[in-house]
Amino acid sequence: MLQNSAKQARGATVFACWVHDPERYGVVEFDSGYRPLRIVEKPKVPKSNYAVTGLYFYDERAVEAVRELKPSARGELEITDVNNHYLRAGTLQCDRLEGWWTDAGTFESLHAAHELVTGRARSALEAEQRSLLERRDELRGVTLEQLFTPAPPPSDPGSRVPHFGCSNCHGPNGTGGSTSYSLPGTNPPKQVTWQCPPLNTVTLRFRDSEITNIITYGRANTPMPAWGIAGGGPMNDQQISDLLAYLHSISIGSQKAMEEAAPSGTDGKTLFDGYCARCHTEGFSFGEPGVDGGGAFGPSLVGGVTPRQFPDESDQIDWVTNTAELGKPYGQRGVSHGIMPHFSDMLTADQIKAIVDYERTL
Ligand code: HEC
Ligand code: HEC
Repeated sequence: MLQNSAKQARGATVFACWVHDPERYGVVEFDSGYRPLRIVEKPKVPKSNYAVTGLYFYDERAVEAVRELKPSARGELEITDVNNHYLRAGTLQCDRLEGWWTDAGTFESLHAAHELVTGRARSALEAEQRSLLERRDELRGVTLEQLFTPAPPPSDPGSRVPHFGCSNCHGPNGTGGSTSYSLPGTNPPKQVTWQCPPLNTVTLRFRDSEITNIITYGRANTPMPAWGIAGGGPMNDQQISDLLAYLHSISIGSQKAMEEAAPSGTDGKTLFDGYCARCHTEGFSFGEPGVDGGGAFGPSLVGGVTPRQFPDESDQIDWVTNTAELGKPYGQRGVSHGIMPHFSDMLTADQIKAIVDYERTL
């Protein structure tokens, strides 16, 4: 890849690498086709997790670009401005490096590659390519448990193995947990403790395609990050499908899930709080609930919304029991986005009826 870019006759190429703290870097914002839209220096609210590395290739017009630049507030000519100059001209290419966030290895090896650009060592490029290949080989031996468990501290000599740390938030073996989270749009930033749902029942409430989407794109305005490359994260499709298989392997199964729900009986409000409120009641996930069913990630259910959406109660029961596939209509004017869980494998028919009765009074 680096060699190809070095051969590129016209335009410029920057290399971007996935990092977990993009606000510290120049960050690439992509359009839906993954073309770079703009590069923003140290954004407060980063639009992706891709940081521009210190490695660039420019054609001879970089000199022109630099001449046209005005010094920044820091009184310096910013490399980001050069890149944005190429972007505006439509000649900037952005290659995403398959790197891992766990250590500075990618940046270090990029530095080595940079030596090449300044004309020193061709072998640096080969070393860079070798190290990327080695890392990919290493990954083949990584178990799913390792992907799931938190990374050891950077000082740990074993830390070259990439970990995604799902259990940091979702608890060991996916039994549920919590995480500290800074609420978006709060000034000064408001820090809360957000409850993270168990994942050992997630395959009971979502279709595989839905779980793949959730992992790939994350969930906006919640601590759940986007993990897939399409969502700006570090994971390739294979890793996500491996994780999905792992989630199936830790599932406690429908019978056990129903046993866990049994103590809630058929009290609509108790069941709603246990299974629905985290998405339908603002603030429920961090212990400061607003209006019951007033809407959060999921729509508001108050003010007679559900009897209007489902004039026939049995349709609402069917929706909560089975939902609908992505893109399929539901109720009077709903279209499924594949993001509402179905409860057929977690709650009994009596319990679902009790929740729906309760919802229809909201
Ligand atoms: C920083 C904390 C954090 C990490 C790390 C994290 N998640 Fe999440 N995840 C969340 C939160 C919080 C939610 C629920 C968001 C909400 O309240 O709507 C969630 C939701 C989910 C859901 C949807 C579950 C549901 O019932 O709504 C899935 C699936 C999921 N995460 C999978 C994963 C996987 C797989 C990983 C590891 C690759 C992971 N998560 C890592 C915080 C995290
Ligand atoms: C993971 C978050 C989440 C959870 C948990 C959740 N919902 Fe939802 N719900 C949604 C989303 C999102 C929608 C919107 C549907 C869409 O856009 O596909 C929705 C839609 C609905 C609707 C239709 C509302 C309308 O006006 O279209 C009803 C009714 C509903 N949910 C009931 C429930 C019940 C009952 C539970 C608990 C048993 C529950 N939901 C749990 C996210 C959730």
